Amino acid sequence: MNKKVLVLTGGGDCPGLNAVIRAIAKRAKKEKGWEVWGSMGAFNGVLREPTELVRLSSKRTAGIHVKGGTILKTTSKGDPLKFPVMSADGTWSTIDRTEELINKIKELGFEAVINIGGDGSQRISQALYEKGLNIIGVPKTIDNDLSATDLTFGFSTAVQVASDSFDKLVTTAESHHRVMIMEVMGRDAGWIALHTALSGGAEVCLIPEIPYDIKKVVKRLNKRYEKGKGFANIVIAEGAKAKDGTATEFESKEVGYENVRLGGVAYQLSAQLKNAGLKADIREAVLGHTQRGGTPVAFDRVLATLLGVQAFEMILSEQYGRMAAFINNQITSVPLIDAIKDYNYIDKDSFLVKAAKGIGISFGD
Ligand code: F6P
Repeated sequence: MNKKVLVLTGGGDCPGLNAVIRAIAKRAKKEKGWEVWGSMGAFNGVLREPTELVRLSSKRTAGIHVKGGTILKTTSKGDPLKFPVMSADGTWSTIDRTEELINKIKELGFEAVINIGGDGSQRISQALYEKGLNIIGVPKTIDNDLSATDLTFGFSTAVQVASDSFDKLVTTAESHHRVMIMEVMGRDAGWIALHTALSGGAEVCLIPEIPYDIKKVVKRLNKRYEKGKGFANIVIAEGAKAKDGTATEFESKEVGYENVRLGGVAYQLSAQLKNAGLKADIREAVLGHTQRGGTPVAFDRVLATLLGVQAFEMILSEQYGRMAAFINNQITSVPLIDAIKDYNYIDKDSFLVKAAKGIGISFGD
């Protein structure tokens, strides 16, 4: 009888997920006696009755590496440790379904599980591993905020999308002598913002790691107008905040949603600039989920493919409780427990920040 491995994608989607799925399926095909299956909608595909599991055959996975999204679908509301359930009176609460999940995975005859996801998903992987599930993780996120891997796939595509949009905003800012504010994603890290600012040539880049002084931002913008440039472009990360301010967070009303929602900081900054006396016209553009969609750039396809192959190698060598990782240009693995320990913030003293300051980008500090 064939051995079976179960693959799933959890949390927010990200360009490159399909390339991982295809790589796992292709690598497994070269190994006699293995079958690869997918659970639809993270672990929900296992928990649902009837189950929603699909065989990841060559036919189903052929050519998917160039497609954005995930053929397995995903959810940010399926944490088996805090699974949302509705009571008879219509109120919602959460229950721990991990034992039921693990038993079901074993009953269905799966040898091991590959969980492709970000920090939240890998926390779930670690919890399931501690409860006896043979599981390994594959890191993904456009935010690049996982500390145990040098880069995550999806990030380069998000930067490319943001950079393309930035270029478009430069020409319209120039035509109208405006200040354009472009808001990008990234949660509590400024990786997408800083890379876009460097790539596009922003005057100002505001990131969560460096709280800004609005007076300094206005000074930088005024200086540019005084020099006769007549326009300016700002990139701001969704989690950025002023020195005396807070990030623009709001609670999601969606049942079971795991995160605080960010977004709208571009409008907050616009108001702050006006209040601080900036005379120029300002417009705001919030890129939102465009950064997560579409075809992955070549680098992300390559990284995703390498991690997919590595994930299956890790199944063969039974390296459970670990996450595939990209460190110092090598594909390797790290214990899941280490992968979820620290958040990957930008170091204020890094060469990345120094270089940006060196070419005149202001962080408002
Ligand atoms: O973590 C990826 C990310 O796109 C963040 O940059 C953003 O804050 C969040 O997910 C948005 O999540 P959702 O898709 O649930 O709105």
